[in-house]
Amino acid sequence: KTGLIIAIDGPSGAGKSTITKALADRLGYLHIDTGAMFRAVALSAQRAGIDGGDDAGLARLCTSLEIAFARTNGCCRVLANGEDVTDAIRTPEISLLTSAISARKVVRDFLLEVQRRMGRQGGVILEGRDIGTVVFPDADVKFFLSASVEERGRRRWLELAARGERITLEETIAAVARRDEQDSGREHAPLRRAGDAVDVDSTGLSFEEVLARMESIVREKE
Ligand code: C5P
Repeated sequence: KTGLIIAIDGPSGAGKSTITKALADRLGYLHIDTGAMFRAVALSAQRAGIDGGDDAGLARLCTSLEIAFARTNGCCRVLANGEDVTDAIRTPEISLLTSAISARKVVRDFLLEVQRRMGRQGGVILEGRDIGTVVFPDADVKFFLSASVEERGRRRWLELAARGERITLEETIAAVARRDEQDSGREHAPLRRAGDAVDVDSTGLSFEEVLARMESIVREKE
């Protein structure tokens, strides 16, 4: 191993992606966004006309799908069979489909192997829902990054408003709560805090404060 394996789990809207990206940059580690991998599978399924509940179709799709991360154009581009799908996987439609297909065991098993292969060399930060519990239960450092549902809803709403989307704060908070329920309530690899994870609650903390706290914990282990 050439570096640590760091796991960052938590609900949507807790700031995982931004924090993971910044922490990976500071450490010179590879950032593995596992949510983007589930999204890439969902996008490919949609394009191939495969239904979210069609396990045989999903299994076939997975065997011919190669997902990779590239650092071209700045950073963190997501490639599916060589095509840059970074922007295409971020639409509301794909978010919804991703939530459905990420509950399918065939998809989880496929991505589990890919994630373990990408991460086992170390020098990586994996970000997701089940990294510390399922993918790398022996990770060197585990974080569970959360924030209150109101705070996560507020951040999400500010993002959407900046993009010109018309939605109320109350609706956004309700949508965040719904996604929490879906991700925590599913049968396979639900969102759960690993017993040995360091809790980081970002409610009321600035981005820099959260980053500094997490970096200092990692540096102690290096
Ligand atoms: O993190 P992001 O919002 O991109 O994840 C999209 C969806 O993928 C989540 O709502 C969740 O259902 C699923 N996911 C998962 N396991 C992971 C990462 C994401 O089930 N490790």
